[in-house]
Amino acid sequence: MSEIHLPVSLERSIELLTPAITSKSHPIIVDGTLGLAGHSYELLRRFPQLTIIGIDRDQQAIEIAKKRLEQFSGRVRVYQDTYDNLTQILDDFGTEYVDGIFLDLGVSSLQLDSIERGFSYSQDAPLDMRMNQNQDLTAMKILATYSQSELTRVLREYGDEKFAPKIARAIIEARGSDPIIKTHALVELIKRVIPAPARRTGGNPAKRTFQALRIEVNSELSILERALPVALEKLAIGGRLVVLSFQSLEDKIVKREFAKVVESKLPKGFPIDLPGYQNKFALLFNGSQKASEEEITSNPRAQSVRIRAIKRVAA
Ligand SMILES: C[S@@+](CC[C@H](N)C(=O)[O-])C[C@H]1O[C@@H](n2cnc3c(N)ncnc32)[C@H](O)[C@@H]1O
Repeated sequence: MSEIHLPVSLERSIELLTPAITSKSHPIIVDGTLGLAGHSYELLRRFPQLTIIGIDRDQQAIEIAKKRLEQFSGRVRVYQDTYDNLTQILDDFGTEYVDGIFLDLGVSSLQLDSIERGFSYSQDAPLDMRMNQNQDLTAMKILATYSQSELTRVLREYGDEKFAPKIARAIIEARGSDPIIKTHALVELIKRVIPAPARRTGGNPAKRTFQALRIEVNSELSILERALPVALEKLAIGGRLVVLSFQSLEDKIVKREFAKVVESKLPKGFPIDLPGYQNKFALLFNGSQKASEEEITSNPRAQSVRIRAIKRVAA
């Protein structure tokens, strides 16, 4: 598996989580996006005292991860769920707080490379895009049922697509004669309706629409928004939350949620700290960090990563 999957920013992620792990005799880390367990495998290998609670919504990923982590059984519990259900998962596991939470957002290489799952515009496949294959909503269903204004909103908000109204209208028009059910049909439709100059710039013109549909199918942003406050509350003192985002909409949500909890509650310039006004959280570094050039060269997926990290400093 290592040839097909290089975990993004593995060393930096582990480095950021390490103080929360080594300061405890029996630390617990939640890997909220277990995927193929690239990060979890290394954490379990390097820290023999560590237990990991692994969460993923994708049954196929869960099966591969479980196999890969077999040698650590006893130190791993795996849940097929979305990471915003953290409270119930920790209740089931039997702990109130954890020492670290790790989120490596977005799609996995497994999902992207499984042609039949319809995540990739470069391969022809049914427009599925579900991370959890038991879910009802697919990209195909969105194209068949959403109104023109709903489609426009999705493409504009989640894809930053300036030709959203044109694409949405063409999707609705196609419903009568030739409904769009496959990835290449959608790519062709997009190429047909956007102006020629736009077709020649900025990579594949279908990229933004595919991103938007994937976000909508999997409620990616609303889950992240709901999950972050819960994740912060579930950190023990000294606990750390590390998030890897791959597009600006995700990163903006992380930035905003972190800013909310590190902002001083005292008036600006207030000279002393007052009891009851101490912040519960502190950023591990300002802003976001990128992958090194060296990592990007060996793993192009690292190109778009933005890392943010925060720790709990008080109850
Ligand atoms: C980028 S991959 C993680 C890769 C993993 N860190 C590794 O090294 O193998 C993201 C994973 O998160 C899962 N995922 C995305 N959103 C999720 C959510 N809201 N809840 C649970 N899992 C989610 C996807 O199914 C995918 O397997």
